[in-house]
Amino acid sequence: MNITWLGHSATLIETSGKRLLIDPFLSGNPTFPSAKRAEVTQNIDYILLTHGHSDHLGDTLQIAKENQATVVATFELASFCGGQGVKNIEMMNLGGTIEVDGNIKITMTQAFHSSSVESEGQFLNTGDPAGFVIRAQGQSIYHAGDTCLFSDMKLIDELYKPSVGLLPIGDRFTMGPSEAAYACNTFFNFETVIPIHHSTFELLTGTPQDFARQVKKGKVIMPKAGEVISITARKSAAA
Ligand code: NI
Ligand code: MN
Repeated sequence: MNITWLGHSATLIETSGKRLLIDPFLSGNPTFPSAKRAEVTQNIDYILLTHGHSDHLGDTLQIAKENQATVVATFELASFCGGQGVKNIEMMNLGGTIEVDGNIKITMTQAFHSSSVESEGQFLNTGDPAGFVIRAQGQSIYHAGDTCLFSDMKLIDELYKPSVGLLPIGDRFTMGPSEAAYACNTFFNFETVIPIHHSTFELLTGTPQDFARQVKKGKVIMPKAGEVISITARKSAAA
């Protein structure tokens, strides 16, 4: 499984011959290496959305239409995308798992945040915010979306045993470095942790260095946006 952090929360996952984009905020994302746009956005099979905010919905509509990709999101957010002309949608909600292409399991997990899309000065509700666990080829990864710390993260660890975590650490709108490090040290057993939702805007003050300093369990990696990371199967327990 290859994981490429694209800046902010945007992440490309390649597994089982499929390409999944999570929260593809590329245009207007100052940390996304825009020279890689064509390469990153081609042959996308699925777009997973954690919530409707513009720094997550991003370029979803365009990329979905260009690739005939399937948008996976809550009932409300997937319906919104359908209403905007996206042909293929998979609706789901918190706690549910869908299996796509016979061997990729996508589980929608809880997140504590808000979720809306701005349209003509109004905020349309787009359901609950979420995170995702993706399991394929004996590997399990957790993308937390935007969230505060919550103790039921322990259930995510117990049920899905993710060996890779992508956790927001930018503070103000999500967990900061201390809360995210607490999650790693207390609730999860990650082998690899990638801090996300940081360094994008001045308002996001949490730094990956501060996070890494506080993590006592698992290896924190701080890839450059656009750098491909290869993840091999967990050494011990199967996912
Ligand atoms: Ni948000
Ligand atoms: Mn956000």
